[in-house]
Amino acid sequence: MSEQTPKFKVTIDNITVEVAPGTTILNAARMIGGDVTPPAMCYYSKLEGSGGKCRTCLVEVSKGSEKDPRPMPKLVASCRTTVMDGMEVKNITSDKVLDARKGVVEMLLVNHPLDCPVCDQAGECHLQDLSYEHGASTTRYEFDRRTFEKEDLGDYISLHMTRCILCYRCVYTAEQLTQKREHGVLDRGDHAAISTLLGKSLDNEFIGNVIDVCPVGALTDKTFRFKNRVWFTKPVDAHCDCKTCGGKARLWMRGDEVFRVTARKDQWGEVEEWICNDCRFHKKSAKDWVIEGPSKISRHSVISQGHYVGVKKQPVLIDKVIGKDPKMLLDIHSVSDVNRPEVELSKIAGPAHSDDFKNTGK
Ligand code: SF4
Ligand code: FES
Repeated sequence: MSEQTPKFKVTIDNITVEVAPGTTILNAARMIGGDVTPPAMCYYSKLEGSGGKCRTCLVEVSKGSEKDPRPMPKLVASCRTTVMDGMEVKNITSDKVLDARKGVVEMLLVNHPLDCPVCDQAGECHLQDLSYEHGASTTRYEFDRRTFEKEDLGDYISLHMTRCILCYRCVYTAEQLTQKREHGVLDRGDHAAISTLLGKSLDNEFIGNVIDVCPVGALTDKTFRFKNRVWFTKPVDAHCDCKTCGGKARLWMRGDEVFRVTARKDQWGEVEEWICNDCRFHKKSAKDWVIEGPSKISRHSVISQGHYVGVKKQPVLIDKVIGKDPKMLLDIHSVSDVNRPEVELSKIAGPAHSDDFKNTGK
């Protein structure tokens, strides 16, 4: 019989879970789910080496482990810190964490333009959600925001460097999926920018996936830009017989028209299976796909607005109450001594006055 590796017990926001040694605090929190899970703007479970860039996933370790119960002196990035047996972690139960997260959001927004009304990512932007949940309503920043020379990334992908939060996800995607990395982060500090060296276009057949991993609207699909707001389109899961990728995708439709094709994403907003450029940019007709059915979208997302999947009509249980139509239940004439039944309130011009109830012959 094979020996089972002992599990570590970790308690996050007073909920205990058992995880394999080597699991990060973030992934342990994801096993619990809900509000206990810290937000993550740069970590991506499918990309090796991701995480540790944005600091949105900070948590407080109030007990290091069973053997060494001392708390950790500073907040730690949960995507990069592995659990210890008996560790106790505070996420939303820590005021320090909530305050620090507010600061991180303010920092991320220092240079991010507030162009959500014209940004294609609006409605599915992780920074938009993060600012809504953890941000402050004002900024203390008084200086000019960063600006960049416009860079052309080819026929399919548009780069808005001003929106980039330098999470490096697109760089890892290009490096790990295409084995032909052509872009990266150039310069440092305030000048750091995503760029293709020598202005090369990103034409690798899997490079379209950088659009899906970008948490903000820095990398968008040129074949969909400004065509529709995401919440007006209806996502459906579909597949096709593709020789390059698995052919499992999500179509964003309006009527019979396919406006956009993306990879399917899981509950953490991460791609389930990478798709190729051909499926993403060229198969824009419903005839190219076998439609499986409506995609499951979190009911908290603006995208689920108006998509009433699985709603059942309530049966009429009582159609008569004491022999009357239910809406007549509060017929004021029959229950009040103040009003006179013979005075028809709807026929009185203007608001009712005590004079209206005088001289009725009673
Ligand atoms: S372009 Fe998007 S994915 Fe790439 S580093 Fe910037 S924010 Fe991250
Ligand atoms: S998600 Fe952990 S630092 Fe960005």
